[in-house]
Amino acid sequence: MEGSQRAKPMKNGTPGNYVVGGVRFARPFRLRRLGHIGLFTRDMPASLRFYHELLGFQISDVLDFAANPDAPDTVKRLNQTEGYFMRHGTDHHSFVLFPQQVFEAMGRARDGVSINQMTWQVGSLKEVVDAWSWLEAQGIERSRTGRDVPGSNWHAYCFDPDGRVLELYYGIEQIGWDGRSKPRNLYEERFTEPPSLPRISEGTEIAEAQARAVDLSSGLRGEDPLPARYDVGGILLPRPFKITCLGPIRLFVEDMGANLRYYRDLFGFMETETVTWRGHTCHFLRINSDHHAIALYPMAMRAELGLSAETNAFSIGLKVNDYQQLKDAIAFLEERGVTIRKLPPELSPGMDYTAFALDPDGHAIQLYYYMEQVGWDGRPRPADQRRPIDNDAWPDILDALSDTFQGETFLGPLG
Ligand SMILES: [Fe+2]
Repeated sequence: MEGSQRAKPMKNGTPGNYVVGGVRFARPFRLRRLGHIGLFTRDMPASLRFYHELLGFQISDVLDFAANPDAPDTVKRLNQTEGYFMRHGTDHHSFVLFPQQVFEAMGRARDGVSINQMTWQVGSLKEVVDAWSWLEAQGIERSRTGRDVPGSNWHAYCFDPDGRVLELYYGIEQIGWDGRSKPRNLYEERFTEPPSLPRISEGTEIAEAQARAVDLSSGLRGEDPLPARYDVGGILLPRPFKITCLGPIRLFVEDMGANLRYYRDLFGFMETETVTWRGHTCHFLRINSDHHAIALYPMAMRAELGLSAETNAFSIGLKVNDYQQLKDAIAFLEERGVTIRKLPPELSPGMDYTAFALDPDGHAIQLYYYMEQVGWDGRPRPADQRRPIDNDAWPDILDALSDTFQGETFLGPLG
């Protein structure tokens, strides 16, 4: 049967054997939001033009893999060995670009995997530490734990059934009014093991660095490569839009059962809705009030949709501030030679009008302005009560829905 099915509403939460912040849960952490995402690229200059210049991610730090004293000669011989940490808001990085060739030279690339990391915020350092031992107990393939430099976030990395990296983190560095990241000499200690708890706070770390006379204003301040000439909601910005939110992530999966067990049953993503499209069943899972944070699609759909055979990622979502900005962003990108695709709207339930911009490696970047909000009982809006989408004739102006401009709100000025 074709169509959309709402998942069964939850009667209660999912109490279990772990106490998280005084509340019983089925696992020793609770995912709160998508914090950042990393992609591999084979063409760093073209990708920087796409993500930094055209989409407006600011560079917060650059990491040269060849500068690591332990880097193998195969890496040191490469032309392009730098990775870029970029941000759209105050998190030190929300989007990371790493050179594919470097990871191949290090023997850390996996076939068909172009997502370098999908990174989810939890509520405390204790949740990260407890997750690390929980991952092992669940038999999940772990990668590494400790603290990221740059970015300062404490993390636990592991792999999903198709070889993509998941990261759980706490406490990513915040970049404020002066636009500067932390100076590198602020990090004196490297962590590659779970820390013993309790740790000193970041505030104490900064005070100790000041006492050591570290110049706290010596961190990188990224510059925007374009002049500010667009009136965006009354502010002059370099582009006619502003990315204000990250996600959702769409994945093509080889084994739907294994991925549902992993994301839903192990990590606690909640199933909001399933959609059957041309006989393929697609699953939409949330972690907070957005209709979905991750969507899983059978791998066979990749060719049917005409998407890149190089990656098992379907798309990465990037939200702009409003519908006007969405239309302006599409025109801005098309004028600069970016391919825009409109895909069947039933594959993005609860997202109203969206479009996909193809990056230089063929990743589909889903631009959107609206995400249906799901409340305590887990019920999405019935599919037949959603606004019909006419991808051949986008309206000039839309009527507001009950949850338009709701959900995660962008903090601070747009530029
Ligand atoms: Fe990360």
